[in-house]
Amino acid sequence: MNLKSLKLGEKILFGIFGLLCIFAVVSFIMLEVYRSHLNHPMYPNTTHFDFTAEGKVGSELFREKGCPDCHRALRNGTNHGVILDGIGSRKSIDYIEKFLKKPESTYETKTVDHGLNKQAAYVAALPDNEIHAIAIFLSELKATQGSADARLPMPERSGFVDEMVKVWAPSSWKGEYRDLREEAQNPSKEKP
Ligand code: HEC
Repeated sequence: MNLKSLKLGEKILFGIFGLLCIFAVVSFIMLEVYRSHLNHPMYPNTTHFDFTAEGKVGSELFREKGCPDCHRALRNGTNHGVILDGIGSRKSIDYIEKFLKKPESTYETKTVDHGLNKQAAYVAALPDNEIHAIAIFLSELKATQGSADARLPMPERSGFVDEMVKVWAPSSWKGEYRDLREEAQNPSKEKP
């Protein structure tokens, strides 16, 4: 088949396809050149950690007990289960420990892998001291306040959000719900 035997419509179609391919390759090269000239990471890193001695023990157990088969933490492991980086800013240590021991009665919905006769059922059967050390390790995986991984919003008040709340939130909500932004300005009172 040569170019002449193609119909006009086919030529246009293949032409557009070819242009898209060239555009994709050129954009990729430009992005990589831009990235190599940056002197900071392209996306800010919003998770961090500072382990205690017990947290370090927990991190070793985490690896030995096969958790990274399903979880990502500290940029290791897979995305098969939940990403656990930053979980210490979303959940309390009590919640984490309770979840590891009794996943079904702790998790908000049905569990897929943790829980009786499931693939990660062995986790709940680990000795208490090992679960405790792992829970400490996980509670020390923190996220920057206000980032997508953190439970609390940014400490700074936004006039825009204040205005939206004033206009849209029914006044009955004040009695029914807690305003996370007040907690955010005083994170020492952080609750689970
Ligand atoms: C076979 C895959 C698998 C393995 C192995 C596994 N997990 Fe999980 N994990 C999951 C899945 C899936 C979820 C989400 C809950 C569910 O559906 O079971 C989860 C949830 C969690 C959560 C709760 C997250 C939340 O936001 O409530 C924690 C904490 C956790 N896993 C810790 C561990 C630890 C520690 C280990 C190792 C001792 C481990 N997991 C091993 C698949 C796994």
